[in-house]
Amino acid sequence: MPTDVVSGPPAGLVRARVHDPYPYFAWLRRNAPAFEERRPGRPSVWQISRYDDVRSLLADPRLSKDPARVPGYVPGPAGLNRHLVHADPPDHTRLRTLVNAAFIPRRIAGLAPVVTDTATRLLDELEAAAHIDVIADFAAPLTFRLICTILGVPDHLDTAATRDTLMASLTHDTRGHEGDLHPLLDALITDKRAHGPTEGSDLLGALVHARDHGSAMTEEELRSTAYLLLLVGHDTTMNLIGNGTLALLRHPDQLDRLAADPALTTTAVEELLRYDSPVRDATFRCAAEPIRLHGRTIAVGDIVSLLIGSANRDEARFPDADRLDLARRPNEHLALGYGPHFCIGAALARLEAALALPLLIERLGPVRLAKPLDELPWRPARVMRGLAALPVVRC
Ligand code: HEM
Repeated sequence: MPTDVVSGPPAGLVRARVHDPYPYFAWLRRNAPAFEERRPGRPSVWQISRYDDVRSLLADPRLSKDPARVPGYVPGPAGLNRHLVHADPPDHTRLRTLVNAAFIPRRIAGLAPVVTDTATRLLDELEAAAHIDVIADFAAPLTFRLICTILGVPDHLDTAATRDTLMASLTHDTRGHEGDLHPLLDALITDKRAHGPTEGSDLLGALVHARDHGSAMTEEELRSTAYLLLLVGHDTTMNLIGNGTLALLRHPDQLDRLAADPALTTTAVEELLRYDSPVRDATFRCAAEPIRLHGRTIAVGDIVSLLIGSANRDEARFPDADRLDLARRPNEHLALGYGPHFCIGAALARLEAALALPLLIERLGPVRLAKPLDELPWRPARVMRGLAALPVVRC
């Protein structure tokens, strides 16, 4: 899609940003903290890069989350955009309340044995392997298994093929290319309708029940919510484990520190969230009112991209922001968002990382990257930052 960039970061930084967005972000923070990409005939896209601006705009009601305000703009696969991420109050409040109960910290804490068992089983299978892909062999199956447990996805759909279908919807321009997504959601919802909600973890069953026995949500909202939860429920945490493992391999002193002192795990997880944030840019927002920022005016209908990954490296907020420090305190990063759309899965993401990362480090033993750093395959997703593969070799 041609974009008329009036003046902006050097082309080299723009080209390199999928692999390494941090020099690009630093340029924006320094030179254009509210950077406008003009697009002829279409609303501008603004990139907001400083911590204070990103934090206050994440909670600013002048920014709408409703894509219908931008004519012709479809942020995700057709028919699957009516979920809480793309809603303002009162719809947002209604939809968030329906899923919230499944993610309250007390319920999530009860999943600790499932996390540990699943991680241990996956690592047992890798016991004798010399070459390991931390994403395909560990982070992806672990995080997908867990979100499937919470949602109550039946075993025959808790598969690598289901995961691939979901992931393809992130990296493709999905309009008209939804592929197997809709049949997959049909199969899931039909299964839930046939069996009714079950005891224990079955958020999907509960949502189908709420849809069918009241006016809690429309069919499109049900399908969109199922899609959203399946996707963000694992892709994000998979990226945290992948990006986090890579950061540790690149900083052996910090890796040794964590291995020697498990009490560091809590601050380590927060620092890994900050250092290479799995959700690099906040999700869709557009101006519902004009907004003045750094001498510029964001016009009604313009799209606003809040660069979480940049905010989390802002030296005005984090001393020595480009340094990985697993004991960093305070660490008020924005990796899980801020304000009314703060991540619903925060407790789950933290639990998974806090249990899985130390186990992974211990059971892998000494490893090195199997590829040079600049050849690692980063996925060119719109909002996320994550590796397609993280190949390592046992030393
Ligand atoms: C390390 C892992 C995770 C990270 C970094 C992360 C990050 C985020 C961020 C930044 C937001 C706010 C987006 C915005 O305001 O534009 C968000 C919202 C959300 N996250 Fe997460 N997330 C993670 C894990 C999860 C998990 C495991 C789930 C489970 C289903 C989840 C479900 C959601 C949902 C449903 C929202 C939308 C909340 C709303 O709009 O009210 N996330 N997440």
